[in-house]
Amino acid sequence: MADEKPAAEPKPTPQVAGDQDDGEARAGVDIWKYVLGFAEMAVVKCAIDLGIADAIESHPEPSISLSQLSSELGCCPSSLRRILRFLAHRKIFRHHADTDTYSQTPLSRRLLTRGENSMAAFILLETTPVMLAPWLNLSSHAAAAAAAAPPPFVAANGNDLWVYLAANPGHSRLLDEAMACDARVAVPALAEDCPEVFEGVLTMVDVGGGNGTTLRLLRKAFPWIRGINFDLPHVVAGALPPCDGVEHVGGDMFEDVPKADAAFLKLVLHDWSDNECIQILKNCKEAISESKSGKVILVEAVINEKEDDKFTDVRLTLDMVMMAHTSGGKERTEKEWAHVLRQAGFAKYTIKPVRAIQSIIEAFP
Ligand SMILES: C[S@@+](CC[C@H](N)C(=O)[O-])C[C@H]1O[C@@H](n2cnc3c(N)ncnc32)[C@H](O)[C@@H]1O
Repeated sequence: MADEKPAAEPKPTPQVAGDQDDGEARAGVDIWKYVLGFAEMAVVKCAIDLGIADAIESHPEPSISLSQLSSELGCCPSSLRRILRFLAHRKIFRHHADTDTYSQTPLSRRLLTRGENSMAAFILLETTPVMLAPWLNLSSHAAAAAAAAPPPFVAANGNDLWVYLAANPGHSRLLDEAMACDARVAVPALAEDCPEVFEGVLTMVDVGGGNGTTLRLLRKAFPWIRGINFDLPHVVAGALPPCDGVEHVGGDMFEDVPKADAAFLKLVLHDWSDNECIQILKNCKEAISESKSGKVILVEAVINEKEDDKFTDVRLTLDMVMMAHTSGGKERTEKEWAHVLRQAGFAKYTIKPVRAIQSIIEAFP
């Protein structure tokens, strides 16, 4: 009988070897995103501080030369050229090589200091030393051995975000303006995608409504709604002037929420732990208890761990923001939302996706 030969070692197919080589090669490039990742955010902040997008927007021609732009901004032309080369490479501004001029893109218009799509205030908030410093404390907070370590924001700034804001009106104003940036993008999307949510709602309290931008936009879309913009006293003191159908009320949602047909909370519960959410939701349930059709409307991200969409990465990044900036807040999966709603006494809920980072969650007692 012939000796059996040992089975030959399977050789990686050339395809797999090629994939490994590609993976290595890509890693050698991609790792630099993390080595130098902060530069992108810092240069975009620099563009806002210099007013580059505003200057191009107010220029009479659609594109502008470096010398016109640098004299308009009072900037050193050689520094400005390097900044624009970086930003044009990332397709934030457009460089026209034939005329050696620069123009806007849809992305650079989001760096305008005013306008429907402006995100400038949000970028300016996130790039303040106050918001950046907590990021350096993530690991000490997350490490099991340091379970008792203070939350990253507290470790960096001495107090939690809300206490810090109450003591620092300039930073509080910046946060309100940043939130208004999101409201200007998200509220029209949810009004267009889910108008039925607001049908039959005659009075609505926007809990943690910030400077009142959300209610103004909702009133525009649904003019029959009478709105109460409810936030901490120092926030409503600096809110937009009251407008027809919207009043400002100062208070504490952990104590009491003004009565209405619907309690609306946009990007509020993600700032808090489950127990705190349950407390806020119980107060909202009490606030809508006298209305026959009372409901709570949440506008929050819903993390889907099984399926990705174009906003998945933003939602997961926002979850890290909650870890860095709050003391127990988080972005939640549907199961986690169901838990807090059930514990607060809501018998039924529905989730409606909209063309935004957030979904609409309607909860019924
Ligand atoms: C992330 S912001 C969201 C603002 C607004 N809802 C939006 O999406 O544009 C959270 C808001 O909750 C408010 N807030 C925090 N603690 C509060 C409390 N105890 N009572 C009422 N509002 C509170 C903050 O002042 C802030 O305006």
